[in-house]
Amino acid sequence: MAVTRTFSIIKPDATRRNLTGAVTKMLEEAGLRVVASKRLQLSQEQAEGFYAVHKERPFFGELVSFMTSGPVVVQVLEGEDAVKRNRDIMGATNPKDAAEGTIRKELAESIEANTVHGSDSEENAAIEIDFFFKADEIVG
Ligand code: PPS
Repeated sequence: MAVTRTFSIIKPDATRRNLTGAVTKMLEEAGLRVVASKRLQLSQEQAEGFYAVHKERPFFGELVSFMTSGPVVVQVLEGEDAVKRNRDIMGATNPKDAAEGTIRKELAESIEANTVHGSDSEENAAIEIDFFFKADEIVG
């Protein structure tokens, strides 16, 4: 299996509860390596741009408001089949549906405050990495 990259966000519910390290530990234990990381306060424009694909969905305003409610940590993760590996350790969007041992089952508060974002395809991973990182900020 090829070593690939994916994009992750540790969301404001997790930074608020000081869980950046706990989330990162679970990602690392799942075989992913953090090859870029920065803590940011997203602007309204950044959040709307990042989530533009969801702009017609009924929760779009709440999603943008939540994602700008506190700091996030954006990361590039590297590992074998990184997109799937990350989605597997994240668990289902709604923590009520997430499998035991996943980040969202263990740590998420609700379908909105669900602790992590992860790219859903290699194509989107490349777009999302590019949204937040310059090439020389990623050190594999
Ligand atoms: S997924 O993983 O993209 O298939 O999940 P999806 O259900 O399509 O949700 C897309 C993102 O919207 C968030 N979401 C919500 N936010 C607020 N309120 C409600 N009800 C809600 N439902 C879904 C969900 O956490 C996804 O955010 P990201 O950051 O992409 O994980």
